[in-house]
Amino acid sequence: MKQFFSVADVEDLPSIVAEALELKSNPFGYEHLGRRKTLGLVFLNPSLRTRLSTQKAAINLGMDVMVMNMDKDGWALETKDGVAMAGSTVEHIREAAAVMGRYCDILGMRSFPKLQDREEDYSEDLFKKFMRYCGVPVVSLESATRHPLQSLTDLVTIREHWQGVSKPKVVLAWAPHVKALPQAVPNSFSEWMCRAQAEGLVDFTIAHPQGYELAEEFTNGAAITHSLDEALTGADFVYVKNWSSYSDYGKILPVTAPWMIDNSVLGTTNGAKVMHCLPVRRDVELASEVLDGPQALVIEEAANRVWAAQAVLKRMLEQLT
Ligand code: CP
Repeated sequence: MKQFFSVADVEDLPSIVAEALELKSNPFGYEHLGRRKTLGLVFLNPSLRTRLSTQKAAINLGMDVMVMNMDKDGWALETKDGVAMAGSTVEHIREAAAVMGRYCDILGMRSFPKLQDREEDYSEDLFKKFMRYCGVPVVSLESATRHPLQSLTDLVTIREHWQGVSKPKVVLAWAPHVKALPQAVPNSFSEWMCRAQAEGLVDFTIAHPQGYELAEEFTNGAAITHSLDEALTGADFVYVKNWSSYSDYGKILPVTAPWMIDNSVLGTTNGAKVMHCLPVRRDVELASEVLDGPQALVIEEAANRVWAAQAVLKRMLEQLT
């Protein structure tokens, strides 16, 4: 594996899920692979889970890890080509990425969208330039439009917990929030679940208020409804997440019906397990009674971030000479 940017970088979905679960049962079985290899993690935005789980995954594989908080400690980056850098930017992505590639065998980068210009965000210009100029394998720690380590984790967690059901009903449910959030997590979750559905592994439904449609390129094959009740009926897994509007880009639109999931609306599910990538705003996005109750999977899900990252890093290390 040379890059991990989207589900398209995975040839065989069941095999990488099985590999993550195998690593969970045998975390140090491949310590030799990362000996004298360095992982560099570059953050342009905050993180708790992605940062710590990817570090832990690399350490389990015997790697050394360097973390660069580019937003706080790095030079202000220029990403556009052909501009005279007479303003606030100090270093071009061409040099910055190339230099980091000389220090590291594998790089990870997190870069959120600005949510101001849809075309710019969805072009993934910064991320693609980073991958092009660094010259080493790159794992996405969340880009403007996708969060593949989270989505692989989510599929691993669903696989681990689908018991007694051959093809679980998985629902991505929009939730309220006080801030405009990116579409990266729901885009990515949908992209991975649509692929899993196409391979006969799950049934996938998305529920959101009108105006919150995700870009079609991420939702091909999903059943889409504006009724939370309809979506929840018979659900085995409910993946709760807020996102801002894609059509009215980056905006929070007025919503009249209640969309925050609490215990009262889970009654029609098939005892659904409730997931969220975290961080979650309690009693805004998801009721505390659900987060603290037996149906919540959020801590197990966050714990599984290690094994998803380890499976991806293992595949990248195996390709290094
Ligand atoms: N879910 C997730 O990516 O968490 P962090 O933003 O804390 O890394």
